[in-house]
Amino acid sequence: MNLETFTPPERILLGPGPSDVPPSVLAAMSRPLVGHLDPSFVDMMEEIKSMLRKVFLTENEMTFPVSGTGSAGMEFCFANLIEPGDEVVIGVNGVFGLRMVEVAERCGASVVQVKSEWGSILDPAQISDALMNRSPKLVAVVHAETSTGVLNPIQEISKLAHRAGSLMLIDTVTSLGGCPVRIDDWGIDAAYSGTQKCLSCPPGLSPVTLSDRAIDVVKSRKSRVQSWYLDVSLLANYWGEGARAYHHTAPITMNYALHESLRLVLEEGLAERWDRHEANHIKLKKGLSELKLFIASQEGHQLWQLNAVTVPAGTDEAEVRKSLLSDSGIEIGAGLGPFAGKVWRIGLMGYSSSEENVDKVISALKGLL
Ligand SMILES: Cc1ncc(COP(=O)(O)O)c(C=O)c1O
Repeated sequence: MNLETFTPPERILLGPGPSDVPPSVLAAMSRPLVGHLDPSFVDMMEEIKSMLRKVFLTENEMTFPVSGTGSAGMEFCFANLIEPGDEVVIGVNGVFGLRMVEVAERCGASVVQVKSEWGSILDPAQISDALMNRSPKLVAVVHAETSTGVLNPIQEISKLAHRAGSLMLIDTVTSLGGCPVRIDDWGIDAAYSGTQKCLSCPPGLSPVTLSDRAIDVVKSRKSRVQSWYLDVSLLANYWGEGARAYHHTAPITMNYALHESLRLVLEEGLAERWDRHEANHIKLKKGLSELKLFIASQEGHQLWQLNAVTVPAGTDEAEVRKSLLSDSGIEIGAGLGPFAGKVWRIGLMGYSSSEENVDKVISALKGLL
């Protein structure tokens, strides 16, 4: 075989993730390796943990990146908090709520699904009904549903979960770094995220955080965590304070990249970053409406970082995406599940969320429609 080194084409990533990565994050990934127990690496791990606490707005000691993508963080939370037979209430209004159900069931949970239409939020009243005469171990909701572009009302749902004596788990894969996520103020017990969306780092790590209440639940388990790789008690020996013990070989360069991307998030400022995402969403929405294109998700609850845009009748949606990619190098996403063929998903996440990118995608769409 005579293969050449792979050189990717130039793209502007405006899909549902991954987003574009700043040059300094890419540069961080190409630095020489050190060992995963090297004192310099251990110091950097501490900085990652402390920056993650700032980004999650939490004091939780147990805050670190799980090796693996966002779905690994999802499995980590359910595998550690659920024992076979535990009852769990999960809000389902898109693909990632459904994935939570699948993962929880594989952990042996008895799942009660609270369903809402795709494109609509989970109404706290529905969750309240489901919690009537019930005290599940866990209530779980996706904060930013990437498949529909909806922001679920976490604060209200979290209060209901605590009133029922349950832990509150949220998916912040798409929300973290792109809109407010306030772990401590909202009383969240467990959360996971992903690196490749609004943190603008390549995919490969899943930042997680567990409250002391969640840790107490783990400590009082009767059965062993079914996943060795994701067992928080074992991972704590490597990511915790004090003597570091080998568990698995940390993905060294991914951690370099996360360190740099978190540094950039904090350098910009959380509030400033949220404002930028909001402003670019508003600009996109205005540009779209001038092209007679509208957002499919519920008004007042639309994500800033992911816009589900209704495909106009008679338009070949796949052809438009193909042309955007080949003619302008712009990637946007297709719809999933009931939204397949009906929406385009235009992401403005992290480094990709810029006025320039909004202008580029609007002008490219104008040329095509
Ligand atoms: C809300 C949400 N949760 C979970 C995931 C799964 O993350 P990953 O694909 O990184 O495993 C995604 C990925 O798009 C997501 O958008």
